[in-house]
Amino acid sequence: MDKLTEVLNLAKSKGYFWPSYEIYGGVSGFYTIGPMGSLVLKNIEDLWKSYFVRPNGFLEIDSPDIMPARVLKASGHVDNFKDPMAECAKCGSKYRADHLLSDSGIQVSESTSINQMNELLNQNKVKCPNCGATTWTVKQFLNMFETNIGPYADNKGYLRPETAQGIFVEFKTLLDINRGKVPMGIAQIGRGYRNEISPRQSMIRLREFHMMELELFMDPEDEKAPALDRDMKLPLLHEKVMEKGEPELISPYGAYKNGILKSAWLAYFLEKSFKFVMALGVPESKQRFIEKLVGERAHYSAQTFDHEVFFDEMGWTEVAGFAYRTDYDLKSHAKETGQELVVIEKKTISTRKTIKLNEKEVKNTHKKDWESIISSVPESREDGIYCAGIKLSSNEYKIIEEVEKEEVRKFVPYVVEPSFGLDRLLLATIYYAYGKKDGRNILSLPDVILGKVVAVLPLVSKKDMIEKAFEIKAMLEKSGYFVIFDEKGYIGKRYARLDEAGIPKAITVDGQTLEDGTVTIRDRDTWNQKRIRPSDLLV
Ligand code: ATP
Ligand code: GLY
Repeated sequence: MDKLTEVLNLAKSKGYFWPSYEIYGGVSGFYTIGPMGSLVLKNIEDLWKSYFVRPNGFLEIDSPDIMPARVLKASGHVDNFKDPMAECAKCGSKYRADHLLSDSGIQVSESTSINQMNELLNQNKVKCPNCGATTWTVKQFLNMFETNIGPYADNKGYLRPETAQGIFVEFKTLLDINRGKVPMGIAQIGRGYRNEISPRQSMIRLREFHMMELELFMDPEDEKAPALDRDMKLPLLHEKVMEKGEPELISPYGAYKNGILKSAWLAYFLEKSFKFVMALGVPESKQRFIEKLVGERAHYSAQTFDHEVFFDEMGWTEVAGFAYRTDYDLKSHAKETGQELVVIEKKTISTRKTIKLNEKEVKNTHKKDWESIISSVPESREDGIYCAGIKLSSNEYKIIEEVEKEEVRKFVPYVVEPSFGLDRLLLATIYYAYGKKDGRNILSLPDVILGKVVAVLPLVSKKDMIEKAFEIKAMLEKSGYFVIFDEKGYIGKRYARLDEAGIPKAITVDGQTLEDGTVTIRDRDTWNQKRIRPSDLLV
């Protein structure tokens, strides 16, 4: 059995994820995330926010999953969000044409046209996996799930294929909330839906999946990106080294300065992504970024890099896409709606200062001369303000500075978008955490992913021990721990079950606990045990 199959089996038996609708025979492209998977998913989301959202004060929103057709027509998805579909002339089975070809050893790319695929399939007599026939017709297939909004058949909608459009359509309000300023980052975590022609590879190609996206709006003339790392090296398989097939190791700073990356924000996000995926437990050597060339990129992108993770069984697999969407989306929605979707930047060219007298103060201070002071024009001299030749003290006037001339610049901001598939990351995290020790399975998930999960085990099923264990469970839960309570079976077996499920720590309540309150704590990865007080876990 290969590692991926073992991981998928474990993911099901330990409650991480499994194919949905099994009792109905299964429907490909849908997975259910189990109790452990839900915990991990939340922690991956939180870790992602700690890399991509919080450090820069970005905002997070939650927009609807159903979108009016008009929105996705304007964004270009209705016309472009299509995959090549090959239909067998004999049995009518339908497959992704590019996948059929590459599975038969015929190289294609995302820029190979429909006609070329048609020719390649028929000329090379590629066999239908279902009936063995070799005659094909290739067409475009729209990848979006269609629905009706309300009872009117002509009020068409789609399930969103990406969360991004929900951000673009709210740009005006979001910019106001951000007080008109860019750079502005808007994040969204939610589901995406794509009616994939032939879903496969478990969590890699789903019809309904989880996305974490960020739209970064900025001034293309002054990006104001955070400082880029000059020391770390990213493996970039960019256009200039694509032929060699080996990524260039280059710093984010260098890649931007050398023009390999078109935006400083893009460089910044690739840097973050590398560190983030490393924190999930994927080693550096199993990650790379690959540039999507003209014809391979989505319709909205001027430059795209995919972040890929290596799986022994599937090779390099995309987990995130970074697209330089420029002003494509905002311009498209502005055109369709007639709304102005711009940033208004006001620049002061010159200011004017005026002196305003505090008449009450002047009257109090200058009982005799106040009338002549008030009726004269204030004069600014080197040593202070004078009126009618009398020097005023600072509480008798105020200097007001007003804008005399300003320049107003309106521009459509450019967008850089990191877009992550959470299900693919979940699979990668579990895949790289999976290993064996003394012939037993261990899921060594990083602490950031499952650190606050602990098992509480009464050594034997005795009433007082169980009560004590429940007491400890309640205390840990109060401090934010997710506690697994397991009282059944030999302790060694229970430990083995927990190791396989990835539970980082197990606390055992035994006879000594009842006497002095201490427990043993056992570490999943080292199997070391020591005696502690349960409250030591809280520090
Ligand atoms: P692919 O080339 O693998 O079809 P994509 O280039 O269409 O992916 P994007 O449009 O960039 O993917 O979507 C952003 C991210 O969403 C991807 O990096 C991936 O992690 C995830 N994703 C996309 N499609 C699916 C899917 N069908 N199932 C699971 N995750 C997906
Ligand atoms: N938002 C990127 C994509 O889904 O295409």
